[in-house]
Amino acid sequence: METSKEIKIQKEYINKVKELNKTKRLQYSILTMGCQLNENDSEKLCGMIEEMKYTKTDDFTEADLVIFNTCCVRENAEDKLFGKLGELKRIKEKKGTIIAIGGCMMQEKHITKKIHTSYPYVDIIFGTHTLHKFPENLYKVLEEKKKLEDVLDIDGKIYEGLPIKRNNNIQASITIMNGCNNFCSYCIVPYVRGRERSRKPKDIIKEVEQVAKEGYKEIMLLGQNVNSYLRVEMQEIKEGKMEDTGEYKEINSFSKLLRKINEIDGIERIRFVSPHPKDFTDDVIEAIADCDKVCKQVHLPLQSGSSNMLKTMNRKYTKEQYLNLVEKMKSKIPNLTLSTDIIVGFAGESEEDFEDTLDVVKKVKFEQVFMFIYSRRVGTPGDKMENQIPEEIKHKRFDKLKQLVESQIAQRNQEYIGSTQKILVEGKSKNNQEMLTGRTDSNKVVIFEGSKDLIGSIINIKIISEHMWYLKGEKINGK
Ligand code: SAH
Ligand code: SF4
Ligand code: F3S
Repeated sequence: METSKEIKIQKEYINKVKELNKTKRLQYSILTMGCQLNENDSEKLCGMIEEMKYTKTDDFTEADLVIFNTCCVRENAEDKLFGKLGELKRIKEKKGTIIAIGGCMMQEKHITKKIHTSYPYVDIIFGTHTLHKFPENLYKVLEEKKKLEDVLDIDGKIYEGLPIKRNNNIQASITIMNGCNNFCSYCIVPYVRGRERSRKPKDIIKEVEQVAKEGYKEIMLLGQNVNSYLRVEMQEIKEGKMEDTGEYKEINSFSKLLRKINEIDGIERIRFVSPHPKDFTDDVIEAIADCDKVCKQVHLPLQSGSSNMLKTMNRKYTKEQYLNLVEKMKSKIPNLTLSTDIIVGFAGESEEDFEDTLDVVKKVKFEQVFMFIYSRRVGTPGDKMENQIPEEIKHKRFDKLKQLVESQIAQRNQEYIGSTQKILVEGKSKNNQEMLTGRTDSNKVVIFEGSKDLIGSIINIKIISEHMWYLKGEKINGK
């Protein structure tokens, strides 16, 4: 069935549930684990659920409907989910709460099996390819009082036109592609998200124009591998597997998409995650340099600094290629800052390999480093490798890396003191309602005193002190 027809059917289900709930005052609660793509999926779930007359509450003991949107990239997410499910049992017995679990973890058979046996009171299990069918599944549970599982193991499809309830008024996340074709040997994502598929340029542009009209200032473009945007589609057209309808005439790559979005009025900043170093072609570097709204801050996942490890990880670049890419980017993009992801303790990682990672960190001087201890994932090649690293060595290496990163960040923060930064003001600071919070182009959090009508504007702030994870500043010229 065409995806547009499928969405039409779901809109009919939204109306049916709305009708069922007409006289009730119902609340829902959602817990999202995982990456920004999952957060964006949750925004779509919230969009559908709010159209079905549920209002949001942060207290899941109060809710009539509880949704977990799960992640399985590392093991700790599983413990968190099962802990919460245990807590919900008693509440459900008292209140009849409907429990729905969706997302990446539900694509794993051993997990759904565990839920069926140990947590049989869960009402709906849905996967990454059936999120759009939430209204239909909820209707069936409400009407027919049965429990259901709706998980498909298919190549991803793109669904347009779902309602959305964004959880931020300044920054809008926009998913530009689904799935991943890279199969890094440690990673579960390709197995749970399916093959890479890009949204059509016109649909993305329409969404950006829409959020610009609604007053959003910053766009975050999302995908597991954003710089291979439309690559699969272009290849299929070339091989005659897909009809060339002419809709990719103007935009047929990530760099062209960036350039086009840069022209949209109202948007002040454009960011994207995650690009893959192997696909960081010159046209993308040039687009970042040329486009005034594209932040000069790039997240460039390293994973390991050792060429050996990178090969085992199936990353398709070497230490030298990564460092050369960084040099090239820094020479072509003035004031570029970089952030990265690093895994320590992947199978076979020797002390020497780990030293290579430290060496790259020392050389590149990242603005931010997301560090992870390798977590074995069932079904991935990494899990089957023999030379796994003992937990205590993993932790030792992690601590050593963390120390290096923190000392570098503290040093970088010092360099900010006294400088003037352009801050996009995002709102009141969570920890101190008297203060405002915003971010620099380089994605550093800055807090300062100011009136709330500054929210949504870009202002000059002088940095006066640093506090590891944020900077403190003050307004210049009373503005
Ligand atoms: N597609 C993105 C990010 C995917 S997941 C990319 O390629 O960069 C986010 C991060 O989680 C990865 O960059 C990686 O550092 C980490 N990660 C993925 N699988 C992991 C595992 N099995 N154990 C520990 N960290 C992992
Ligand atoms: Fe996982 Fe690699 Fe794909 Fe990123 S690029 S999602 S790390 S397989
Ligand atoms: Fe997790 Fe799925 Fe994202 S596994 S990191 S939520 S794509």
